[in-house]
Amino acid sequence: MKHILGIETSCDDTGIALIKGNEIIENIVLKQEHKSGVIPEYAAREHHIALSLEVEKIIKKHQKPDLIAYTQGPGLIGSLFVGACFAKGFAYSAKIPSIGVNHLEAHIILPHYIENVPFPYLCLLISGGHTMIVLVKEIGCYEIFSQSLDDAVGEVFDKVARNIGLAYPGGPEIEKEAKKALNLNFFEFPRAMENNDDFSFSGLKTAAIRQINKEATPQKKADFCYAFQNHVAEMLADKMERINSKIGGIPSWVASGGVAANQAIKGKLNQKALKNNANFFIPPPQLCTDNGLMIAVLGKFRFEKFGKTDLSLRPSAQSRLI
Ligand code: KG4
Ligand code: ZN
Repeated sequence: MKHILGIETSCDDTGIALIKGNEIIENIVLKQEHKSGVIPEYAAREHHIALSLEVEKIIKKHQKPDLIAYTQGPGLIGSLFVGACFAKGFAYSAKIPSIGVNHLEAHIILPHYIENVPFPYLCLLISGGHTMIVLVKEIGCYEIFSQSLDDAVGEVFDKVARNIGLAYPGGPEIEKEAKKALNLNFFEFPRAMENNDDFSFSGLKTAAIRQINKEATPQKKADFCYAFQNHVAEMLADKMERINSKIGGIPSWVASGGVAANQAIKGKLNQKALKNNANFFIPPPQLCTDNGLMIAVLGKFRFEKFGKTDLSLRPSAQSRLI
């Protein structure tokens, strides 16, 4: 399989990438404008327009792909259907195979492609919809050791940010505000499930929202963002250490998903990996958030390993990793 086109339409960003083996030929992400949270129908319409225009440009500039991979789920069902219909229609007319892949698996596998991280590795997946620690044994073979029992960490960043008047998505906004902090120890937060493998973030979200609101001064908001981000980073790093010890020490750690773009979280995880004698890798920020490259990459690995294509595969909002 030479050229592989990957398209990602699970939420509000349209990702399109073209790869050839280890070469990344194109990787573009078209960000949509949503004021305080994603409006599903608007997201689906925008994907439709973006895909039609951008895929044509890429193919004209380079060449027709030999395989097209798309996100089968999980995600917003309307957005997923736009991507799946586009990919299947394209595949049919171009007489090439199509392959639907899992969005979570794509986040988890990308570090293996871009940095050649060897299997097995311990992956902290932190996105807008999911929080989990997964042992990645090989393509298609995963063991989940930890998950959030309620909110995903990215969702908490978004809600906490909205509460103090920051724009959507809230994670990058909180990171920006945190850089202006002066009083680093003013805010304190609860920590749930410390002696448990799983995560829980809903108590933290409520506690964070109760401590501050839109009326606070800019300095108070910045101090709050610093403390909140730092607290989350410590929770994540401590849980990685706990799971790593439980399994018996995994020499390679990675983090992926939108929240892994956060440099404070990256720093804390890095320290923790060092302490546990593990090599640690996080993709560059633009590859932590949703992108078409990870879909093309997973399509490539799955097609090489399992060879399956699937015109009958249906998009699924609830699609699970395993
Ligand atoms: O992986 P992703 O792009 O989409 C999902 O699969 O959900 O993750 C999006 C999430 C959002 O909640 C966003 O606020 C968060 O990632 N995020 C961040 C940062 N950049 C994106 N959270 C914290 N710090 C960031 N720099
Ligand atoms: Zn994602």
